[in-house]
Amino acid sequence: MTSHTIESVSQEHRVFPPPEAFASQASIGSREAYAALYERSIEDPEGFWREQAQSLRWSTPPARVLEWHPPFAKWFGGGKLNLADNCLDRHVASWRANKAAIIWEGEPGEVRVFTYRELLREVCRFANALESLGVRSGDRVGIYMGMVPEAAIAMLACARIGAIHSVVFGGFAAEAVRDRMNDAQAKCIVTQDGAYRRGSVVPLKLQVDKAVEQCPSVKHVVVVKRTHNEIEMKPGRDQLWSDLVEKASAVHVAPALDSEHPLFILYTSGTTGKPKGVMHTTAGYLLGAYLTTKYVFDLRDEDVYWCTADIGWVTGHSYIVYGPLSNGATVMMYEGAPNQPDPSRFWQIIERHGVSIFYTAPTAIRTFVKWGEEFPNKHDLSSLRLMGSVGEPINPEAWMWYRKVIGGDRCPIVDTYWQTETGSIVMTPLPGAIPSKPGSCSLPFFGISPKVLREDGSEAGVNEGGLLVIDKPWPSMLRTVWGDDERYKTQYFSRFPGKYFTGDGARKDEDGFFWVMGRIDDVVNVSGHRLGTAEIESALVAHPSVAEAAVVGIPDELTGQALVAFVTLKSHDKPSKPLNAALMEHVANEIGKFARPKEIRFADAVPKTRSGKIMRRLLRDVAQGKEATGDVTTLEDIGVLARLREHEEE
Ligand code: WT7
Repeated sequence: MTSHTIESVSQEHRVFPPPEAFASQASIGSREAYAALYERSIEDPEGFWREQAQSLRWSTPPARVLEWHPPFAKWFGGGKLNLADNCLDRHVASWRANKAAIIWEGEPGEVRVFTYRELLREVCRFANALESLGVRSGDRVGIYMGMVPEAAIAMLACARIGAIHSVVFGGFAAEAVRDRMNDAQAKCIVTQDGAYRRGSVVPLKLQVDKAVEQCPSVKHVVVVKRTHNEIEMKPGRDQLWSDLVEKASAVHVAPALDSEHPLFILYTSGTTGKPKGVMHTTAGYLLGAYLTTKYVFDLRDEDVYWCTADIGWVTGHSYIVYGPLSNGATVMMYEGAPNQPDPSRFWQIIERHGVSIFYTAPTAIRTFVKWGEEFPNKHDLSSLRLMGSVGEPINPEAWMWYRKVIGGDRCPIVDTYWQTETGSIVMTPLPGAIPSKPGSCSLPFFGISPKVLREDGSEAGVNEGGLLVIDKPWPSMLRTVWGDDERYKTQYFSRFPGKYFTGDGARKDEDGFFWVMGRIDDVVNVSGHRLGTAEIESALVAHPSVAEAAVVGIPDELTGQALVAFVTLKSHDKPSKPLNAALMEHVANEIGKFARPKEIRFADAVPKTRSGKIMRRLLRDVAQGKEATGDVTTLEDIGVLARLREHEEE
């Protein structure tokens, strides 16, 4: 038996230093420059953050930096500012007034460009429209939309008037909308007639109609016409966006809001239980989003920056809307699916708009690998200079493919670790300063103090797997779970009192680099070895035939738990008995005999949450031949479960 909390079996040793040409131009261009700032941020956090906060535009500068009554934090007390003012008015008062803020491409192919001046006008109009409906500072507004510019405009308009937005991903159905609106007691919902997805129309307004029947707090529904499918408008409750903004003035004076004014609630994509309404507030969140966007993406005014996330997730909040716009960046926004009309779409967009920074998720990268490199190879991707990854540990082989095929072996990759709760990136290489190791999110961002702990709270040794915590507060941290301070305390601060527990397993290597090993709930115990499933999945993905793998543990009389692997092959490979045996051997060779799966099942797809994370809880049920239990509402494609069962009977 090992005494380790989680045993690391990873064999990854490749290192890629920042390219010379990149580092010499970067705003933080050396390990020393990073280290100096980082040390300052940890040794004198108040001094560091007081100074950094000066990069925001304040109506009243903050009197205090941090008030910490664990686990409740207040940042920048006494300060007043407006977040929309920081994202818009501030740039309109500069040479950026006519700079493109958003370049939007619809799934059918049309392009709309909003300059900062135009975006400000639209936001002011909608802010006035919301106020005309009686929406006031502190009221909650639901936003249930696809990836249209109006979604970003609605968020910014809420932020401008101090209404708290709660964006619900457009892939959710009526029940999810209902539960979230009721939890937040929303007064108003902004939606669309329908959203385009892979060539078909998702009828959003219809879902809202169903949801709102059971949402007594909702008094108004605002509808953007996008797909022109038939909808019912309920008189007195429903209004067209176009009618409202036509009547509204394009001038709106941004009120000064307190630093701790609530900005948004976002229900986490959580794979278990009742969704949690993570609450963020204004100034600290904005500073986190602003600073990380600036340094992690080494943002420059010439960049065309594209984050492929949906606005319904925190990545869309922080890295499509608030981070890049507060930096005055040009943001690419795409409405639809990556394979509409064919798997070249993303690469076409990069070529057409000259995208220079590209930020996506491991699940998307593994899908591109599965589709094959002939699609990106047909396009000129030379405008790219930096790429990012977020959402899961990235399998080293997928990382290598991303670097070679998309980045032309030239672009640094930032593997950014963070969570809905952290508000902004907390660990990442800085692209001009810190070498990359495929699969490692490397080092903490300024002001972030992560530790890997054993179960007893002592610090784990070098390369010893343990529990990842952040032991000091930071400006963009969540402030509470909406309406449930108790849940906030028990969920995040009870395991190690006073320290924020991420729920992830991790290890720190001999260079101080962090490797996230996945959710602690997914750890499997095989013959006394406690293994993070992510490392075994990465070993499988390193096999030339494998595009994606999901590993779960099932009860086993002999070994305690045994591993079952679900494997998706690259498009040119076919399932076979010899391949099955070869994959078993491959894991035994890469990791060790103890990690050899008991069973490997080929699958055309694995169940994922709508944000792209593998739902191992469901796979555990499938692996044991049980009916799926618990909540399946966050499942992206319900058909996947049925198909996995069919394979079982073959
Ligand atoms: C969880 C948070 C953060 C925005 C999108 C997801 C996993 C996220 C990484 C990464 C390893 C990662 C963690 C984390 N995760 N990024 N770079 N390396 N794991 O937000 O839905 O709140 O999920 O995603 O397990 O706890 P979220």
